[in-house]
Amino acid sequence: MARTNDALVALARRVLLPNYRPPPLVLTEGEGCRVRDVEGRELLDFSGGIAVLSVGHAHPRLADAIAAQARRLVHTSNLFYNDRAIELAAALVARTPFDRVYFANSGAEANEALLKLARRWHHDHGRPERVEIVSAEASFHGRTMGALALTGQPKYHVGMGPMVGGVRHVPYGEPDAMRAAIGPTTAAVLLEPMQGEGGLVTPPPGYLAAVRALCDERGALLFFDEVQTGIGRTGTFLGAEHDGVVPDGCSLAKGMGGGFPIGAMLVREALADGLPPGSHASTFGGNPLACAAALAVLSIVDDEGLVENARAMGERLGAGLEALAREHACVAEARGRGLLRGVRIEGADPLALLGRLRDAHGMLASLAGGDVIRLAPPLTVSAADVDEGLARLRALFAEEVPT
Ligand SMILES: Cc1ncc(COP(=O)(O)O)c(C=O)c1O
Repeated sequence: MARTNDALVALARRVLLPNYRPPPLVLTEGEGCRVRDVEGRELLDFSGGIAVLSVGHAHPRLADAIAAQARRLVHTSNLFYNDRAIELAAALVARTPFDRVYFANSGAEANEALLKLARRWHHDHGRPERVEIVSAEASFHGRTMGALALTGQPKYHVGMGPMVGGVRHVPYGEPDAMRAAIGPTTAAVLLEPMQGEGGLVTPPPGYLAAVRALCDERGALLFFDEVQTGIGRTGTFLGAEHDGVVPDGCSLAKGMGGGFPIGAMLVREALADGLPPGSHASTFGGNPLACAAALAVLSIVDDEGLVENARAMGERLGAGLEALAREHACVAEARGRGLLRGVRIEGADPLALLGRLRDAHGMLASLAGGDVIRLAPPLTVSAADVDEGLARLRALFAEEVPT
């Protein structure tokens, strides 16, 4: 078969389930902040694989670590310990306020584990009535049935009911609504420390601390979903560090493997007995190949100062986006933290703008919350790349905007 873009897209449309709606563009290789399509056209990738590409495309150290581990030991199952999972758990514990790690394969799976641990932990400690989970409206926690029920966006629930029960959604950023929702049957509160898919919404100052205090006062656990914000994405290793709040546990995924699928649930020692033997498991979770990739990502993040780079480049990108908001009527507002940034579009079609950005200006980005163009470039992004991205966005907004 001819490996042309059109032939591959035609084949994709015949053989892939159409649950995604990608543009007719087939990517085949990448390096750093750039990707190339099957016909060799280069694009500046500020979609970052939806905030996944912590160390950029084809980082040689990540590639070498994956290849070396593939030659050594790919899989064991959790019937046995493996050295890489132990090392990765120790590395995560050393870098965070948490003491215990459970490995999963995705963000949704990590959140499922939090949900199950919350219920089982209370159950085993004589509080079987504590089964409810409170999460936020406009939140996103994944697409498996538990994570979907936690996700506070009704459009994702359409036709999928009945939802897993015992979940309440409250407006994000409103302590009074949280106070009204947490009661004697609450097992846990789960929040993103900054909402990602919901439109890059940062919590009002003091909100996360107020929720922490409410959970402590009322005996509920507090969990943060750091799937999108973790591993330096917002300019701190964990997104919650901006607010100085330590939850009882968190989920991680996306940036953790730099593109290799892996997720994790991290909890404090008090919850170490939350999932007793046999209560939860994953065949692939903690697979040595995935853990070797995540270990390589952590050492690249350290050696290349990527958390600091995310902060510095994030400020540069943020300042540029603020300028775009001042210059162009359709850019209503700049949002975000670190390298999880975006612009809210008003009076123009965000999806059409994203398409023009890709097709006419050679730059990839993604949408968040329906009207925010989200920019989540690799944490390795340089000042020159940021400036180039801003120049391409400026050229896009200077055109007549598609409405
Ligand atoms: C905050 C958050 N939680 C969970 C998920 C789900 O992760 P996954 O797609 O790896 O299951 C996402 C994905 O966008 C996310 O942004």
